[in-house]
Amino acid sequence: MTEAVLLVGGQGTRLRPLTINTPKPMLPVAGVPFTVHQIARAKQAGVTRIVLATSYRAEVFREFLDANDLGIEIVVVTETEPLGTGGAINHVMSELASGPNDPVLVFNGDVLTGVDIAGLVHHHQQVDADVTLYLTPVEDPRAYGLVPIDESGRVTAFLEKPQTPEEIITDTINAGCYVFRRSVIDDIPAGRVVSVERETFPGLLTSGALVTGVVDRGYWLDLGTPLAFARGSADLVLGHAPSPAVPNPGPFLALPSAQIAPDAVLTGGSAIGRAAVIESGAQVDASVVFDGAVIESGAQVRNSIVGVGARIGAGTVLDGAVVGDRARIGAGNELLPGVRVWPEAELAECSVRFSSDR
Ligand code: GDD
Ligand code: MG
Repeated sequence: MTEAVLLVGGQGTRLRPLTINTPKPMLPVAGVPFTVHQIARAKQAGVTRIVLATSYRAEVFREFLDANDLGIEIVVVTETEPLGTGGAINHVMSELASGPNDPVLVFNGDVLTGVDIAGLVHHHQQVDADVTLYLTPVEDPRAYGLVPIDESGRVTAFLEKPQTPEEIITDTINAGCYVFRRSVIDDIPAGRVVSVERETFPGLLTSGALVTGVVDRGYWLDLGTPLAFARGSADLVLGHAPSPAVPNPGPFLALPSAQIAPDAVLTGGSAIGRAAVIESGAQVDASVVFDGAVIESGAQVRNSIVGVGARIGAGTVLDGAVVGDRARIGAGNELLPGVRVWPEAELAECSVRFSSDR
């Protein structure tokens, strides 16, 4: 038996304007809540029991799990106040069935990856590590935990979100999936906020514990920003990011009851939600169109997110845009990368352009 802890708590607001009411891991991605992709991959790798460490709107997880059988035992544990990543891991301690030396997997709840989960556990046991970290190289490591390793794979330091250029000593980062020796989880201080990245890992290194890193160069994405969320969704739909919850990858995914005009063009792994309407001549590329949204005729939507019930007017161009739930963008607008339209906002016809054409 292998157990896994899924960290799905924290603040839940970083995907604004998308997550006003929905915990980030419960946002639908390629047809199911993001968390379901992680659970399905863990199950496929041989995990038999999952503990969800929640803090923000735990009832949304419970209701979903009550209504949907994912074919694996799932326990939901809730912190009354967010305890940080380390505090959350320790807080689920009493729900773990593993013995003191058994491996326990821990996943950040917002990471999409093709990592070989069973291989990670195997490596952890083979070297008899206290903690094994999944690492991945990235172009710009500043937003992550930097993890240098020596030639034997032993972790030599852990620098969370480096502040100065001197601290950027590697491009290999903590990819948000760990294997813990269970007793290490028990040793994390209880009942207070603990950061596994800033406190637990550096502390283990100081005390001489064996922390190893496994570098994997396969698919990896942190869905922490709205546009990364759109990218991850497209990659799941296309099959670039592997998930057993996407049985038939393809150029787009339209959920039941979506209405798509015969001459609309859907590409790049776009996901179209329930009862969404894509009108004649509209083009949707690498985007997420949530339930009930309407893309009017001739509109072009690229690398963007259109919230629940939002309306994009005829001929409007969205590129790298995030449009909140029920917002209304009139016809003939042009919204380019970085723009965020808050829920319910209204933009009149032909009122914003980034170019003077037309
Ligand atoms: N239950 C619970 N309680 N979960 C939490 C809490 C908490 O208080 N705080 C954070 N989490 C969960 C988040 O929901 C997320 O799934 C995960 O822990 C990591 O937190 P983030 O807030 O997303 O951290 P980050 O993306 O800035 O950095 C982390 O991930 C990077 C890789 O994506 C760190 O682990 C970095 O070291 C790492 O490189
Ligand atoms: Mg994150």
